[in-house]
Amino acid sequence: MTDELTPETPDEDEQPIKQRKNGLYPGVSDELAANMKSGWADTELRDLEPIEQAPNAARRREALSRRFPGERLVIPAGNLKTRSNDTEYDFRAATEFVHLTGDQTEDSVLVLEPRESGEGHDATLYRLPRSNRENGEFWLDGMGELWVGRRNSLDEAAALLGVACADVRELADTLREATGPVRVVRGHDAGIEAALADKVTAERDEELRVYLSEARLIKDEFEIGELQKAVDSTVRGFEDVVKVLDKAEATSERYIEGTFFLRARVEGNDVGYGSICAAGPHATTLHWVRNNGEVRSGDLLLLDAGVETNTLYTADVTRTLPINGTYNDLQRKIYDAVYEAQEAGIAAVKPGAAYRDFHDASQRVLAEKLVEWGLVEGPVDRVLELGLQRRWTLHGTGHMLGLDVHDCAVARTETYVNGTLEAGMVLTVEPGLYFQADDLTVPEEYRGIGVRIEDDILVTEDGNRNLSAALPRRSDEVEAWMARLTGQQA
Ligand code: GLY
Ligand code: MN
Ligand code: MN
Repeated sequence: MTDELTPETPDEDEQPIKQRKNGLYPGVSDELAANMKSGWADTELRDLEPIEQAPNAARRREALSRRFPGERLVIPAGNLKTRSNDTEYDFRAATEFVHLTGDQTEDSVLVLEPRESGEGHDATLYRLPRSNRENGEFWLDGMGELWVGRRNSLDEAAALLGVACADVRELADTLREATGPVRVVRGHDAGIEAALADKVTAERDEELRVYLSEARLIKDEFEIGELQKAVDSTVRGFEDVVKVLDKAEATSERYIEGTFFLRARVEGNDVGYGSICAAGPHATTLHWVRNNGEVRSGDLLLLDAGVETNTLYTADVTRTLPINGTYNDLQRKIYDAVYEAQEAGIAAVKPGAAYRDFHDASQRVLAEKLVEWGLVEGPVDRVLELGLQRRWTLHGTGHMLGLDVHDCAVARTETYVNGTLEAGMVLTVEPGLYFQADDLTVPEEYRGIGVRIEDDILVTEDGNRNLSAALPRRSDEVEAWMARLTGQQA
């Protein structure tokens, strides 16, 4: 018998086993150590078909190769992040990595290595292989498969993803020794960045990140299908919430958050961003995610939430609902104004239109309403020129949507904000009006009311398609939909 925690001293050239820190292991006898090495079935999966998005990812890698000839390109998936002590946050792979591989495995790194011929690159996906059973890694290491679950072997991953795979544990050393120009996507893998520290510059790395952001502006058919799936699940999540508003009234906004999350987790990977479950005056806080407030009959609920699919595409939808099922007169007046602004915004989404057009169209309607209600002095053109409506409209009217909720966020101004809409782009249209509870410039009855309506719009060849059209938007349709779901009346 031995008290040692490791069954054997690993060979010098092997990676040391990272022991779990919690000290749960009893001593391991030589006999147990020997026993644990054998008696395991061969579970290698053979004849695997590539995942559906593999050819699309390959095309993106080819385009990337053409943009940066002769340079080594390093795109990490990222690592687990500690939540507390020895527990980690759920892992979510870096968007750039997912887009170029279809993979989502932590600690992986995609490397495009320029060919010696000078023509193109060889792509290799570095990742953790199956756990070693000879040295006890698989059951004694905290990252061993016995603890965290079976991984694909390198051969399996290569077949599924359509890209060569190699052991990531050798990568940092390889990169340290590599010569020639190199760029890395920063912010995801500190170890890889440290290995490259004296070879890269912030400016050149940023060019890579910007390119990859812009490469996501136009979605392919697979991506549009995934976004539609995300939206469809989100619609069901909103229906779930309406059905439990009475339980939320008896508890808090958390009941709404938890209800939507259940749908997201069962049908997808997660929510694509922290759900905003903002009842009453919380609706005027744009990113209210504490969700610990009361839900009161007579108030509005602004619910901004999106399911993220298992392939990591997210919806981003907002509805502002009367908690008791009926908007009061002022709530309806504000809601209908935002609806009208959204209609004008959606109508401006078409190929060839300036990206800014839908924002301008929505803002004009909102400015008109604010002048009409006497909240700001006209004329409307003066209000728009000076941006005076922004005290109550607060944010831009939308953004690109995809793997990230605010997708393509580092695209250059000329290709995004000052760019032109093209078929295949997906964006949100989400005007809002927000009257803060302490805004002394508006009549008291307005204070604490916030309304946003947000839909996910695909630019088509001849206009647009509202991917979230299944969720009612008009105030009377919202009321009828809520009544149907809560069994009130037809
Ligand atoms: N959910 C954040 C946004 O609407 O942009
Ligand atoms: Mn949005
Ligand atoms: Mn949103």
